[in-house]
Order: sequence, then C-alpha cells, then structure tokens
Amino acid sequence: MMETLKEGAVALVTGSSSGFGMLTCVELALRGFVVIAGIRRMETQAKLMEAAEQAGVSSRIHTTQLDVTNDAEVQQAAVYIWNRYGRLDVLINNAGTAYGGFIEEVPAEVWEEQMNTNFHGMVHVTQAVLPLMRKQGKGRIIQVSSISGRIGFPGYGPYASSKFAVEGFSECLALEVKSFGIDVVMVEPGAYGTPIWDKGFTQMSTTPGSPYQRMLDKVLAFSRKSAQQGGNPEEVARLVAHIACIKRPSFRYALPRSTRLTIGAKALMPARLFQRILASVLERS
Ligand SMILES: NC(=O)c1ccc[n+]([C@@H]2O[C@H](COP(=O)([O-])OP(=O)(O)OC[C@H]3O[C@@H](n4cnc5c(N)ncnc54)[C@H](OP(=O)(O)O)[C@@H]3O)[C@@H](O)[C@H]2O)c1
Repeated sequence: MMETLKEGAVALVTGSSSGFGMLTCVELALRGFVVIAGIRRMETQAKLMEAAEQAGVSSRIHTTQLDVTNDAEVQQAAVYIWNRYGRLDVLINNAGTAYGGFIEEVPAEVWEEQMNTNFHGMVHVTQAVLPLMRKQGKGRIIQVSSISGRIGFPGYGPYASSKFAVEGFSECLALEVKSFGIDVVMVEPGAYGTPIWDKGFTQMSTTPGSPYQRMLDKVLAFSRKSAQQGGNPEEVARLVAHIACIKRPSFRYALPRSTRLTIGAKALMPARLFQRILASVLERS
C-alpha cells in the first residue's frame, strides 16, 4: 500500500531508548513526523540521539521523560504534547519488558512488574491520549504486541499473559474508538535481536530442586537460539512507520513469515495437536 509522507504530523513512541522504539523514532522522523520519544531514564537517550544524528533527523526527534508505570509522567507527557504541538496523530505503545519463569515459581512481584509495564502502563498512556485524539477527530494507535500475545509457550507465562492482555484490550479499544476516527493496529513480532532478552528473560531461574529444572534448560536453549536467529529489528521499525503512514492499515501484522505461519497453524489445528507440536519443538531444543 502507498505511503504518504507525514510532514509535521506528531507521533509519540514509548520505550524509545533502544530496540524497536529507538529505530521506529528514526523511521518516523525520516517520513516527516515530529517524534516525541518517551524515555524512562533520560540518561539512556544518547543512543537514540546518535542514531537520529546519523540519519540526519535529530531536529525532528524530541525526547521526553516517560516511565509508562508513572501516572504523573504519563499525564505530563499528554499535556506537554497538547500544549506544545496541539495535535497527536500517532501513538506507538512500544515500551515493554520480558520476564520468564515457570508459573508456579514466578514471584508475585515479577508478575506485578510485568503486567504494570506491558499492560497497565500501556492502558494509562492510551487513556491519557484518547481525549486529544477524540478532540481532533482522528488518530492511530499502534500496539507493539508479540507472537507471545497469540501463542503461549512454557517459561513465557508472565510475558505471554501481559501480551494476551494487550491483544484483548486492543480488540475492545478498536471497536470503542472507531466512530471517533481513531484507528487501532496490532504489530506481532516473533523473535528479533534487540536488547530485551538480555535484560531479564535469559536470567530466569528455578528454585533449588525445582521439578521444572529440565524444562528450564530446554526453554533457555530455545530462547537463546530464537534471540540469536532473530530477525533484524529494522524490519519491525520500518513496518510500524509504514503503518503510521498508510490510509487503511489492516488490524494485525505478524512478522516475520515464520510467525505468520505459526499463528496460522494454531488457528487451523486442533489445540491439542498444536500443543504436542510446541512440546516437541521444545524437546528438540
Ligand atoms: N525483541 C523481540 O524479539 C520482541 C518480539 C515481540 C515483541 N517485542 C516487543 O517490542 C517492544 C519493544 O521491545 P524491544 O525488543 O525493542 O526491547 P528493548 O530494546 O529492551 O526496548 C524496550 C524499551 O522499553 C522501555 N521500557 C521498559 N520499561 C519501561 C517503562 N516502565 N516505561 C517506559 N519505558 C520502558 C525500555 O527502556 P529501558 O532502556 O529504560 O529499559 C526500552 O526503551 C516490547 O513491547 C516487546 O515486548 C519484542
């Protein structure tokens, strides 16, 4: 589908210090957007500004302090955008963390932390910008979900639960805001080589003498292999920026092709057969 340049349109990207968020800021700026890059720790903004400098778009990217779990910062960011720019064309709910572990053993605080960032944080940012988008009678919200929002896998309980929540939320939201001219789009990447996996997921552990120890070894081997063989994160950033620019995007975009095929297989197969296949994939790791 044809992209149109978005000269002067305003986009807010959460989680812009690295990975998809950082690359998406640059891709959007290259397409003419003024980008508000939400950063939770301002001391980490150098990498983004370096990438923007290299692409020749640093004048179009403005960073703002935004921890999505901090309500005051979420409100401040929305007020700042409205006062400074008077418009918000696109919100990209990208900020996220990934925690793994076996459901029986994952401590309550890890469940809370996972849901706070990937789900509640995303809910609050969305709620904060909806009044602006409704006032202007248009807007697009792009949700960075995951293959883990469509398919559960052993050891991925906290992360998959948070992304399944994002999926349900987004299906409801799309129907609620359509009549206000606001569009919701899901992006569902498989494994890509960003820093997310090193920040916590691959450090998952079991309790001493755990009955899950053998499965943990398999899950870690599977996850390391997926991260190493993961695609180029640029591909996701380019897709997100493309979706921000086209007239009538689809509701869901899964990538790469192997992710589309896996999601398609789940939809077609009896659930027990699909579970047996997942178990055998893990066994072979
Ligand atoms: N990489 C993959 O294979 C993959 C696959 C499917 C979906 N995803 C999704 O893609 C999104 C981006 O992840 P990524 O892979 O690009 O990883 P990443 O490089 O670790 O980026 C995650 C970003 O989110 C930020 N963040 C974390 N907690 C935050 C909070 N409370 N408030 C604001 N920002 C916060 C991080 O900031 P800090 O630098 O401060 O930590 C970082 O900027 C996530 O939603 C993730 O679930 C990733």
